[in-house]
Amino acid sequence: MAQKVQFTETVLRDANQSLMATRLPYADYEEILPTMDKAGYYSIECWGGATFDSCLRYLNEDPWERLRNLRKNLPNTKLQMLLRGQNLLGYKHYHDDVVQKFVELSIKNGMDILRIFDALNDFRNIRTALEVTKKAGAIASGCISYTQSPVHTVKKYVQMCKELQKMGFDTICLKDMAGTMSPNEAESLIKGIKDAVGNMPLILHTHCTTGMAYMTILKAVESGVDVIDTATSCFSGGTSQPATETLFYALQQYGIKTGLDEKIINQVNDFFKPVKQKYIDSGRINPKSMGTDAMALVYKVPGGMLSNMIANLTDMNAMDKFDAALEEIPNVRKDLGYPPLVTPLSQMVGNQAVTNVLVGERYKNISKEVKNYFKGEYGNPPAPVNAELQARILKEASMAKPLDCRVEDSRRTGEDFAKAKSALGALARSEEDVMSYICYPDQTVKFLEGRKAQEENVAAYTIEEA
Ligand code: CO
Repeated sequence: MAQKVQFTETVLRDANQSLMATRLPYADYEEILPTMDKAGYYSIECWGGATFDSCLRYLNEDPWERLRNLRKNLPNTKLQMLLRGQNLLGYKHYHDDVVQKFVELSIKNGMDILRIFDALNDFRNIRTALEVTKKAGAIASGCISYTQSPVHTVKKYVQMCKELQKMGFDTICLKDMAGTMSPNEAESLIKGIKDAVGNMPLILHTHCTTGMAYMTILKAVESGVDVIDTATSCFSGGTSQPATETLFYALQQYGIKTGLDEKIINQVNDFFKPVKQKYIDSGRINPKSMGTDAMALVYKVPGGMLSNMIANLTDMNAMDKFDAALEEIPNVRKDLGYPPLVTPLSQMVGNQAVTNVLVGERYKNISKEVKNYFKGEYGNPPAPVNAELQARILKEASMAKPLDCRVEDSRRTGEDFAKAKSALGALARSEEDVMSYICYPDQTVKFLEGRKAQEENVAAYTIEEA
Protein backbone atom coordinates (compact mmCIF):
# COMPACT_ATOMS: atom_id res chain seq x y z
CA MET A 1 0.00 0.00 0.00
CA ALA A 2 1.28 3.44 -0.91
CA GLN A 3 2.41 5.66 1.93
CA LYS A 4 0.01 8.43 2.86
CA VAL A 5 1.02 11.77 4.36
CA GLN A 6 -1.63 14.39 5.06
CA PHE A 7 -1.30 18.16 5.40
CA THR A 8 -2.53 20.66 7.95
CA GLU A 9 -2.77 24.13 6.39
CA THR A 10 -1.62 26.81 8.83
CA VAL A 11 -2.09 30.06 6.87
CA LEU A 12 -5.01 31.19 9.01
CA ARG A 13 -3.29 30.66 12.36
CA ASP A 14 0.42 29.92 12.73
CA ALA A 15 1.62 31.49 9.47
CA ASN A 16 -0.56 34.51 10.23
CA GLN A 17 0.85 34.60 13.78
CA SER A 18 4.49 34.02 12.80
CA LEU A 19 4.71 36.44 9.87
CA MET A 20 2.26 39.21 10.71
CA ALA A 21 1.57 39.11 14.45
CA THR A 22 -1.86 37.48 13.85
CA ARG A 23 -3.37 40.64 12.33
CA LEU A 24 -5.15 38.97 9.44
CA PRO A 25 -8.85 39.94 9.70
CA TYR A 26 -11.48 37.34 8.85
CA ALA A 27 -12.85 39.52 6.07
CA ASP A 28 -9.54 39.23 4.21
CA TYR A 29 -9.94 35.50 3.61
CA GLU A 30 -13.65 34.68 3.85
CA GLU A 31 -13.95 34.56 0.07
CA ILE A 32 -11.39 31.75 -0.35
CA LEU A 33 -12.78 29.48 2.37
CA PRO A 34 -15.21 27.55 0.09
CA THR A 35 -12.24 26.81 -2.19
CA MET A 36 -10.01 25.78 0.72
CA ASP A 37 -12.81 23.46 1.78
CA LYS A 38 -12.17 21.39 -1.36
CA ALA A 39 -8.37 21.18 -1.04
CA GLY A 40 -8.26 17.86 0.82
CA TYR A 41 -6.29 19.02 3.86
CA TYR A 42 -6.13 16.82 6.94
CA SER A 43 -7.22 19.97 8.78
CA ILE A 44 -7.03 23.75 8.71
CA GLU A 45 -5.44 25.33 11.75
CA CYS A 46 -7.50 28.47 12.08
CA TRP A 47 -8.14 29.44 15.68
CA GLY A 48 -6.59 29.50 19.14
CA GLY A 49 -3.04 30.56 19.86
CA ALA A 50 -2.89 34.32 19.47
CA THR A 51 -5.89 34.63 17.12
CA PHE A 52 -8.35 35.05 19.97
CA ASP A 53 -6.48 37.91 21.65
CA SER A 54 -5.78 39.59 18.32
CA CYS A 55 -9.48 39.52 17.33
CA LEU A 56 -10.49 41.38 20.47
CA ARG A 57 -7.47 43.62 20.89
CA TYR A 58 -6.73 44.78 17.36
CA LEU A 59 -9.35 43.63 14.88
CA ASN A 60 -12.63 44.46 16.65
CA GLU A 61 -13.82 40.94 15.89
CA ASP A 62 -15.66 38.51 18.10
CA PRO A 63 -13.39 35.42 18.06
CA TRP A 64 -16.41 33.14 18.54
CA GLU A 65 -18.20 34.68 15.60
CA ARG A 66 -15.06 34.14 13.54
CA LEU A 67 -15.12 30.49 14.54
CA ARG A 68 -18.79 30.09 13.61
CA ASN A 69 -18.13 31.73 10.24
CA LEU A 70 -15.17 29.44 9.62
CA ARG A 71 -17.39 26.47 10.42
CA LYS A 72 -20.10 27.68 8.07
CA ASN A 73 -17.70 28.22 5.17
CA LEU A 74 -15.61 25.10 5.74
CA PRO A 75 -18.31 22.47 6.21
CA ASN A 76 -16.20 19.55 4.94
CA THR A 77 -12.84 20.33 6.53
CA LYS A 78 -11.66 19.65 10.05
CA LEU A 79 -11.08 22.88 11.96
CA GLN A 80 -8.10 22.81 14.30
CA MET A 81 -6.99 25.00 17.17
CA LEU A 82 -3.99 25.30 19.46
CA LEU A 83 -4.68 25.18 23.20
CA ARG A 84 -2.19 25.69 25.99
CA GLY A 85 -3.77 23.13 28.35
CA GLN A 86 -4.69 24.62 31.70
CA ASN A 87 -3.47 28.04 30.46
CA LEU A 88 -6.01 28.05 27.58
CA LEU A 89 -4.67 30.79 25.29
CA GLY A 90 -2.45 32.68 27.74
CA TYR A 91 -0.04 31.98 30.57
CA LYS A 92 -2.31 31.95 33.63
CA HIS A 93 -3.50 28.72 35.18
CA TYR A 94 -7.28 28.65 35.01
CA HIS A 95 -9.68 26.71 37.16
CA ASP A 96 -10.99 23.42 35.82
CA ASP A 97 -14.51 24.76 35.37
CA VAL A 98 -13.18 27.50 33.09
CA VAL A 99 -11.08 25.07 31.08
CA GLN A 100 -14.04 22.74 30.73
CA LYS A 101 -16.35 25.51 29.61
CA PHE A 102 -13.82 26.89 27.15
CA VAL A 103 -13.31 23.51 25.50
CA GLU A 104 -17.05 22.82 25.41
CA LEU A 105 -17.78 26.17 23.79
CA SER A 106 -14.97 25.78 21.26
CA ILE A 107 -16.39 22.46 20.13
CA LYS A 108 -19.98 23.70 20.23
CA ASN A 109 -19.03 26.62 17.96
CA GLY A 110 -17.40 24.33 15.43
CA MET A 111 -13.95 23.13 16.44
CA ASP A 112 -13.03 19.55 15.42
CA ILE A 113 -9.43 19.08 16.58
CA LEU A 114 -7.88 20.49 19.73
CA ARG A 115 -4.10 20.37 19.76
CA ILE A 116 -3.29 20.57 23.45
CA PHE A 117 0.14 21.26 24.93
CA ASP A 118 1.90 22.41 28.08
CA ALA A 119 5.07 24.48 27.92
CA LEU A 120 6.86 22.20 30.41
CA ASN A 121 5.33 18.99 29.01
CA ASP A 122 3.76 18.49 32.42
CA PHE A 123 0.84 16.37 31.30
CA ARG A 124 -1.14 17.04 34.48
CA ASN A 125 -1.79 20.42 32.88
CA ILE A 126 -3.43 18.98 29.76
CA ARG A 127 -5.61 16.29 31.29
CA THR A 128 -8.71 18.41 31.97
CA ALA A 129 -8.77 19.77 28.42
CA LEU A 130 -8.28 16.24 27.07
CA GLU A 131 -11.16 14.80 29.07
CA VAL A 132 -13.67 17.46 27.98
CA THR A 133 -12.53 17.22 24.35
CA LYS A 134 -13.12 13.49 24.32
CA LYS A 135 -16.43 13.80 26.12
CA ALA A 136 -17.64 16.34 23.58
CA GLY A 137 -16.69 13.99 20.74
CA ALA A 138 -13.87 16.06 19.21
CA ILE A 139 -10.36 14.91 18.32
CA ALA A 140 -7.73 15.42 21.02
CA SER A 141 -4.17 15.81 19.80
CA GLY A 142 -1.54 15.49 22.53
CA CYS A 143 1.25 17.87 21.74
CA ILE A 144 4.85 17.78 22.96
CA SER A 145 6.94 20.96 23.18
CA TYR A 146 10.14 19.88 21.45
CA THR A 147 13.43 21.12 22.78
CA GLN A 148 17.06 20.05 22.88
CA SER A 149 18.93 19.45 26.13
CA PRO A 150 21.06 16.75 27.75
CA VAL A 151 17.91 15.26 29.33
CA HIS A 152 15.73 15.44 26.21
CA THR A 153 16.74 12.13 24.69
CA VAL A 154 14.84 10.02 22.16
CA LYS A 155 14.03 7.70 25.04
CA LYS A 156 12.44 10.53 27.00
CA TYR A 157 10.31 11.64 24.03
CA VAL A 158 9.22 8.05 23.39
CA GLN A 159 8.15 7.79 27.04
CA MET A 160 6.17 11.02 26.72
CA CYS A 161 4.37 9.70 23.64
CA LYS A 162 3.49 6.46 25.39
CA GLU A 163 2.11 8.49 28.24
CA LEU A 164 -0.03 10.60 25.87
CA GLN A 165 -1.32 7.44 24.26
CA LYS A 166 -2.18 5.98 27.66
CA MET A 167 -3.97 9.18 28.65
CA GLY A 168 -6.34 8.68 25.71
CA PHE A 169 -5.20 11.18 23.08
CA ASP A 170 -6.19 10.39 19.50
CA THR A 171 -3.02 11.68 17.84
CA ILE A 172 0.42 12.92 18.88
CA CYS A 173 2.09 16.07 17.65
CA LEU A 174 5.74 17.03 17.96
CA LYS A 175 5.86 20.78 18.14
CA ASP A 176 9.21 22.25 17.19
CA MET A 177 8.38 25.91 17.76
CA ALA A 178 11.96 27.13 17.29
CA GLY A 179 12.56 25.15 14.08
CA THR A 180 15.73 23.62 15.49
CA MET A 181 14.92 19.95 14.92
CA SER A 182 17.46 18.57 12.46
CA PRO A 183 16.80 15.85 9.85
CA ASN A 184 18.94 13.48 11.87
CA GLU A 185 16.99 14.13 15.06
CA ALA A 186 13.68 13.82 13.22
CA GLU A 187 14.69 10.43 11.88
CA SER A 188 15.60 8.88 15.21
CA LEU A 189 12.69 10.51 17.02
CA ILE A 190 9.98 9.55 14.54
CA LYS A 191 11.26 6.01 14.11
CA GLY A 192 11.47 5.59 17.88
CA ILE A 193 8.01 7.01 18.46
CA LYS A 194 6.33 5.08 15.65
CA ASP A 195 7.83 1.85 17.01
CA ALA A 196 6.42 2.64 20.44
CA VAL A 197 2.92 3.88 19.65
CA GLY A 198 1.95 1.64 16.73
CA ASN A 199 -0.86 2.98 14.59
CA MET A 200 -1.40 6.19 16.48
CA PRO A 201 -1.11 9.08 13.99
CA LEU A 202 2.00 11.21 14.46
CA ILE A 203 2.15 14.84 13.40
CA LEU A 204 5.19 17.07 12.93
CA HIS A 205 4.94 20.81 13.44
CA THR A 206 8.03 22.87 12.70
CA HIS A 207 9.08 26.30 11.48
CA CYS A 208 11.46 27.38 8.71
CA THR A 209 13.26 29.83 11.02
CA THR A 210 16.67 28.13 10.89
CA GLY A 211 16.35 26.67 7.40
CA MET A 212 16.09 23.06 8.61
CA ALA A 213 12.38 22.48 8.06
CA TYR A 214 12.23 21.04 4.52
CA MET A 215 15.05 18.58 5.19
CA THR A 216 13.60 17.69 8.55
CA ILE A 217 10.15 17.08 7.11
CA LEU A 218 11.49 14.92 4.31
CA LYS A 219 13.34 12.77 6.84
CA ALA A 220 10.23 12.68 9.02
CA VAL A 221 8.20 11.47 6.03
CA GLU A 222 10.77 8.78 5.28
CA SER A 223 10.58 7.76 8.92
CA GLY A 224 6.81 7.36 8.89
CA VAL A 225 5.23 10.62 10.05
CA ASP A 226 1.51 10.78 9.21
CA VAL A 227 0.68 14.48 9.09
CA ILE A 228 2.80 17.57 8.42
CA ASP A 229 1.99 21.24 9.03
CA THR A 230 2.52 23.55 6.05
CA ALA A 231 1.46 27.00 4.90
CA THR A 232 0.33 28.05 1.43
CA SER A 233 3.57 29.04 -0.30
CA CYS A 234 3.25 32.85 -0.24
CA PHE A 235 2.75 32.64 3.54
CA SER A 236 5.51 30.04 4.04
CA GLY A 237 9.19 30.24 4.93
CA GLY A 238 10.97 32.49 7.38
CA THR A 239 9.45 32.13 10.82
CA SER A 240 6.42 30.37 9.28
CA GLN A 241 5.93 26.76 8.10
CA PRO A 242 7.31 25.20 4.90
CA ALA A 243 5.22 25.54 1.75
CA THR A 244 2.18 23.36 1.09
CA GLU A 245 2.52 23.16 -2.70
CA THR A 246 6.28 22.55 -2.62
CA LEU A 247 5.95 19.58 -0.29
CA PHE A 248 2.96 18.34 -2.27
CA TYR A 249 5.09 18.18 -5.45
CA ALA A 250 8.06 16.68 -3.63
CA LEU A 251 6.04 13.90 -2.01
CA GLN A 252 3.97 13.21 -5.12
CA GLN A 253 7.11 12.21 -7.03
CA TYR A 254 7.79 9.57 -4.38
CA GLY A 255 4.33 8.15 -5.02
CA ILE A 256 3.16 9.30 -1.60
CA LYS A 257 -0.57 9.98 -1.37
CA THR A 258 -1.40 13.39 0.10
CA GLY A 259 -5.11 13.69 -0.65
CA LEU A 260 -4.49 17.26 -1.84
CA ASP A 261 -6.02 18.69 -5.01
CA GLU A 262 -3.19 20.27 -6.99
CA LYS A 263 -5.37 22.82 -8.74
CA ILE A 264 -7.08 23.93 -5.56
CA ILE A 265 -3.93 24.39 -3.48
CA ASN A 266 -2.55 26.59 -6.23
CA GLN A 267 -5.77 28.59 -6.32
CA VAL A 268 -5.49 29.10 -2.59
CA ASN A 269 -2.00 30.48 -3.00
CA ASP A 270 -3.07 32.76 -5.88
CA PHE A 271 -5.72 34.19 -3.58
CA PHE A 272 -3.33 34.90 -0.72
CA LYS A 273 -0.58 36.53 -2.84
CA PRO A 274 -2.19 40.00 -2.99
CA VAL A 275 -3.26 39.66 0.66
CA LYS A 276 0.35 39.19 1.62
CA GLN A 277 1.46 42.05 -0.62
CA LYS A 278 -0.98 44.36 1.12
CA TYR A 279 0.67 43.64 4.47
CA ILE A 280 4.19 43.93 3.09
CA ASP A 281 3.25 47.35 1.70
CA SER A 282 1.76 48.42 5.03
CA GLY A 283 4.85 47.25 6.91
CA ARG A 284 2.87 44.67 8.92
CA ILE A 285 5.04 41.87 7.54
CA ASN A 286 8.58 42.49 8.65
CA PRO A 287 11.09 41.37 5.99
CA LYS A 288 13.18 40.01 8.85
CA SER A 289 10.53 37.40 9.61
CA MET A 290 10.84 36.14 6.02
CA GLY A 291 14.54 35.35 6.19
CA THR A 292 16.54 32.38 7.39
CA ASP A 293 18.54 32.73 10.57
CA ALA A 294 20.75 29.83 11.62
CA MET A 295 21.93 31.53 14.81
CA ALA A 296 19.46 29.47 16.85
CA LEU A 297 21.35 26.33 15.79
CA VAL A 298 24.65 27.75 16.95
CA TYR A 299 23.42 28.83 20.37
CA LYS A 300 20.73 26.16 20.84
CA VAL A 301 18.13 28.78 21.74
CA PRO A 302 15.17 30.01 19.68
CA GLY A 303 15.65 33.03 17.41
CA GLY A 304 12.97 35.05 19.21
CA MET A 305 14.77 34.61 22.51
CA LEU A 306 18.02 35.88 21.03
CA SER A 307 16.42 38.96 19.49
CA ASN A 308 14.74 39.66 22.85
CA MET A 309 18.10 39.52 24.60
CA ILE A 310 19.75 41.74 22.05
CA ALA A 311 16.92 44.28 22.39
CA ASN A 312 17.17 44.25 26.21
CA LEU A 313 20.94 44.59 26.26
CA THR A 314 20.84 47.36 23.65
CA ASP A 315 18.24 49.25 25.72
CA MET A 316 20.53 48.99 28.73
CA ASN A 317 23.55 49.98 26.70
CA ALA A 318 25.19 46.69 27.63
CA MET A 319 25.70 44.85 24.35
CA ASP A 320 29.29 44.22 25.46
CA LYS A 321 27.77 41.65 27.86
CA PHE A 322 26.05 39.71 25.04
CA ASP A 323 28.63 36.92 24.86
CA ALA A 324 28.66 36.50 28.63
CA ALA A 325 24.85 36.40 28.70
CA LEU A 326 24.83 33.77 25.93
CA GLU A 327 27.24 31.65 27.92
CA GLU A 328 25.07 32.04 31.00
CA ILE A 329 21.92 30.70 29.29
CA PRO A 330 22.86 27.00 29.46
CA ASN A 331 23.78 27.44 33.14
CA VAL A 332 20.45 29.03 34.02
CA ARG A 333 18.64 26.44 31.99
CA LYS A 334 20.40 23.65 33.84
CA ASP A 335 19.54 25.26 37.20
CA LEU A 336 15.89 25.26 36.12
CA GLY A 337 15.93 21.59 35.12
CA TYR A 338 16.10 22.15 31.34
CA PRO A 339 12.68 23.66 30.57
CA PRO A 340 11.70 23.72 26.87
CA LEU A 341 12.56 27.19 25.55
CA VAL A 342 9.02 28.20 24.70
CA THR A 343 7.10 31.29 25.90
CA PRO A 344 7.10 32.24 28.74
CA LEU A 345 9.96 29.97 29.84
CA SER A 346 12.31 31.22 27.13
CA GLN A 347 11.90 34.81 28.33
CA MET A 348 12.36 33.76 31.96
CA VAL A 349 15.59 31.92 31.22
CA GLY A 350 16.88 34.69 28.94
CA ASN A 351 16.08 37.51 31.36
CA GLN A 352 17.62 35.67 34.32
CA ALA A 353 20.80 35.02 32.34
CA VAL A 354 21.03 38.71 31.43
CA THR A 355 20.39 39.74 35.06
CA ASN A 356 23.01 37.33 36.39
CA VAL A 357 25.60 38.80 34.04
CA LEU A 358 24.65 42.45 34.51
CA VAL A 359 24.53 42.26 38.32
CA GLY A 360 27.83 40.41 38.31
CA GLU A 361 26.61 37.88 40.85
CA ARG A 362 24.49 34.86 39.95
CA TYR A 363 20.93 34.93 41.35
CA LYS A 364 21.49 38.00 43.50
CA ASN A 365 18.31 39.26 41.83
CA ILE A 366 15.71 36.68 40.89
CA SER A 367 12.59 37.54 38.94
CA LYS A 368 9.17 36.81 40.42
CA GLU A 369 8.46 34.41 37.57
CA VAL A 370 11.61 32.38 38.21
CA LYS A 371 10.77 32.26 41.92
CA ASN A 372 7.28 30.97 41.11
CA TYR A 373 8.85 28.43 38.79
CA PHE A 374 11.01 27.09 41.63
CA LYS A 375 7.91 26.94 43.83
CA GLY A 376 6.40 24.54 41.31
CA GLU A 377 3.76 26.91 39.97
CA TYR A 378 4.49 26.15 36.33
CA GLY A 379 4.51 22.39 36.81
CA ASN A 380 7.17 19.73 37.03
CA PRO A 381 10.49 20.63 35.38
CA PRO A 382 11.90 17.99 33.00
CA ALA A 383 14.91 17.37 35.29
CA PRO A 384 15.78 18.17 38.94
CA VAL A 385 16.40 21.87 39.55
CA ASN A 386 19.31 23.44 41.45
CA ALA A 387 18.48 22.27 44.99
CA GLU A 388 20.39 24.99 46.81
CA LEU A 389 18.71 27.75 44.86
CA GLN A 390 15.31 26.18 45.32
CA ALA A 391 15.81 25.85 49.08
CA ARG A 392 16.68 29.54 49.27
CA ILE A 393 13.59 30.59 47.32
CA LEU A 394 11.26 28.31 49.28
CA LYS A 395 12.64 29.55 52.59
CA GLU A 396 12.08 33.14 51.56
CA ALA A 397 8.46 32.23 50.71
CA SER A 398 8.02 30.24 53.95
CA MET A 399 7.27 27.09 51.99
CA ALA A 400 8.47 23.70 53.23
CA LYS A 401 8.47 22.15 49.76
CA PRO A 402 7.48 23.06 46.20
CA LEU A 403 3.91 22.39 45.06
CA ASP A 404 3.51 18.71 44.34
CA CYS A 405 0.20 19.12 42.58
CA ARG A 406 -1.19 21.35 39.85
CA VAL A 407 -1.57 25.01 40.78
CA GLU A 408 -5.28 24.44 40.18
CA ASP A 409 -5.42 21.78 42.89
CA SER A 410 -3.60 23.98 45.38
CA ARG A 411 -6.40 26.56 45.28
CA ARG A 412 -10.10 26.51 46.02
CA THR A 413 -11.98 24.99 43.11
CA GLY A 414 -14.40 26.30 40.56
CA GLU A 415 -16.81 29.16 40.17
CA ASP A 416 -14.62 31.51 38.22
CA PHE A 417 -17.07 31.31 35.35
CA ALA A 418 -20.05 32.32 37.48
CA LYS A 419 -18.09 35.16 39.01
CA ALA A 420 -17.02 36.48 35.63
CA LYS A 421 -20.60 36.27 34.40
CA SER A 422 -21.89 38.47 37.18
CA ALA A 423 -18.95 40.87 36.82
CA LEU A 424 -19.82 41.40 33.18
CA GLY A 425 -23.53 41.89 33.86
CA ALA A 426 -25.72 43.00 30.96
CA LEU A 427 -22.75 43.44 28.61
CA ALA A 428 -22.60 39.66 28.30
CA ARG A 429 -25.13 38.14 25.97
CA SER A 430 -23.73 34.67 25.84
CA GLU A 431 -21.44 32.23 27.59
CA GLU A 432 -18.97 32.96 24.81
CA ASP A 433 -18.85 36.63 25.86
CA VAL A 434 -18.14 35.56 29.44
CA MET A 435 -15.37 33.27 28.27
CA SER A 436 -13.76 36.05 26.23
CA TYR A 437 -13.90 38.21 29.35
CA ILE A 438 -12.19 35.53 31.46
CA CYS A 439 -9.39 35.21 28.91
CA TYR A 440 -8.92 38.92 28.14
CA PRO A 441 -10.95 41.07 30.55
CA ASP A 442 -9.94 44.59 29.47
CA GLN A 443 -10.06 43.96 25.73
CA THR A 444 -13.38 42.15 26.04
CA VAL A 445 -15.07 44.94 28.00
CA LYS A 446 -13.84 47.41 25.40
CA PHE A 447 -15.05 45.19 22.59
CA LEU A 448 -18.48 44.57 24.15
CA GLU A 449 -18.98 48.26 24.94
CA GLY A 450 -18.07 49.07 21.35
CA ARG A 451 -20.55 46.50 20.09
CA LYS A 452 -23.29 48.01 22.26
CA ALA A 453 -22.51 51.58 21.18
CA GLN A 454 -22.48 50.58 17.53
CA GLU A 455 -25.89 48.96 17.80
CA GLU A 456 -27.31 52.02 19.57
CA ASN A 457 -26.00 54.22 16.78
CA VAL A 458 -27.58 52.00 14.18
CA ALA A 459 -30.87 52.06 16.10
CA ALA A 460 -30.82 55.87 16.40
CA TYR A 461 -30.01 56.22 12.70
CA THR A 462 -32.87 53.94 11.72
CA ILE A 463 -35.37 56.00 13.72
CA GLU A 464 -34.19 59.24 12.11
CA GLU A 465 -34.52 57.70 8.67
CA ALA A 466 -38.06 56.59 9.40
CO1 CO B 1 4.20 26.98 15.58
